[in-house]
Formats: sequence, structure tokens, C-alpha cells
Amino acid sequence: RVASKARKELSGKRVLITAGPTHEYIDPVRFIGNPSSGKMGFCLAQAACRLGARVELVSGPTNLSAPEGVQLIRVTSAQEMFKAVQERFSSCDVALFSAAVSDFRPLECADHKLKKANNYNSLTHIDLVENPDILQQMGAAKTHQIVVGFAAETSNVIPYAREKLVAKHADMIVANKVSATQGFACDTSQATLVLPQECIELPEMPKIQLAGEIFHVLVKRLLSFA
Ligand code: CTP
Ligand code: CA
Repeated sequence: RVASKARKELSGKRVLITAGPTHEYIDPVRFIGNPSSGKMGFCLAQAACRLGARVELVSGPTNLSAPEGVQLIRVTSAQEMFKAVQERFSSCDVALFSAAVSDFRPLECADHKLKKANNYNSLTHIDLVENPDILQQMGAAKTHQIVVGFAAETSNVIPYAREKLVAKHADMIVANKVSATQGFACDTSQATLVLPQECIELPEMPKIQLAGEIFHVLVKRLLSFA
């Protein structure tokens, strides 16, 4: 139903996607990260490509390889991801921010391995500074782009997603509930699509299918008004 109706509906469109975790280095052998696998973003890239879009995928460290036809830009930190997105945002039509960006990074990265004996204080206490909020900044700067954010929450999923929709100037937030055992690095996801005027609750499904549903709603509800 969805796939056949939406086929090639993104032809001529440029789609920019962020995916995966970011790694924020403390020293050459340690970083702050998170368990994001990048699967959702890579599925979005594959789905957009199938719908005829030109796709650029900016991804943090993952084990995944680029889906066929997708231009993959590999980055490590949030600052690198921000720069790669800034360079590409103005020329895209749709931007989806599925990366699990680290909110903070160490104030400084040591140029040598911190030793537990000599650098006890540096290892028990790390000064952090806030990373740029890539989605928020692109949302605030958008001209014609459709902007989609993601929100993984452990509670109050819809209210938090609504707050993010407004605060980040997004056109849609894909909200899902996560716990230690569900959400990250899974092949399936149960999501609610939060739009300004409505919420669309979807059943649990494989991420590739969820990607298709996201574009289906995007094409029907958002792209037709652009
Ligand atoms: N995001 C981003 N850059 C950041 C932080 C978040 O682009 N530095 C994007 C994510 O890719 C996602 C959305 O913002 O699309 C929501 O991320 P989330 O971590 O849920 O929101 P935060 O605003 O960071 O709030 P919190 O972590 O406190 O829930
Ligand atoms: Ca965050």
C-alpha cells in the first residue's frame, strides 16, 4: 500500500540525514558515546533513495556500510557532524536528524593517554561543554526545507516530543520510547509521528518499514504544502 503509492515521490529532491552516535574523545583511547547503531538513519537513507531522492547521509561511527546510491559522509564528533550538515543544509529539500548526538563533549581532549596513577583527577572528573544542537540550529535557519527530528524518551514521550517540535522548529518529530533493553540498536521500533496538528501512532515494525511510513506521511502532509 504505502510503498507503491509513494514510489518515486521524492524524485528530484535532495535529502540530508544524520545518523549514528557521536564520539567525544577524552584522550586518544577514551570517548563519551552512546549505544546508537545508526540503523534508523541508514534505513531512512535507503528508503529515500528508493523513492528517487538524492541522499547524503552524515553518520557518526557505525559498523554499517552505505546503502547503494547513497553518499555517505563519515564523521566522529558532534562538531564534525555539525560542520558537515552546515555545508549541505541550504541545498537540501528535506533534512532528517536521527543521530544520537552527544549533548556534551570534554572541554579538552588530552593528547596522550591519561594514566590512572598520574591523572587520577582527570579520570574521575571531566569538565564538559555543550555541543551545538544541530537540529535546533538548522530548524531555526530553514528557508524551504522540511525538517524532521527524532526523540527517544524513557517517559512522557509525546509531551517531550511536542516541546522539541516547537523548540527546534521541526515539522515533524518521530518519538519513541526507549529503555535499557528497547529502542537503541534494535531492528524494530514503535514510534509516534508528532506533527503540529496531529499525532500518528504507529505499531511496532521493522525500522526499514518505519522509514517508509515516515516518508509516506512527509510526502502527503508536508511536501505537498512546500
Ligand atoms: N540533536 C541534534 N544535535 C544535538 C542534540 C540533539 O541534532 N546536539 C537532535 C537529534 O538528532 C534528534 C533531536 O535533536 O533529532 C532530539 O534529540 P534529543 O537528544 O532527544 O533532544 P535534546 O534536545 O538533546 O534533549 P534531551 O537529550 O535532554 O532529551
Ligand atoms: Ca540529547
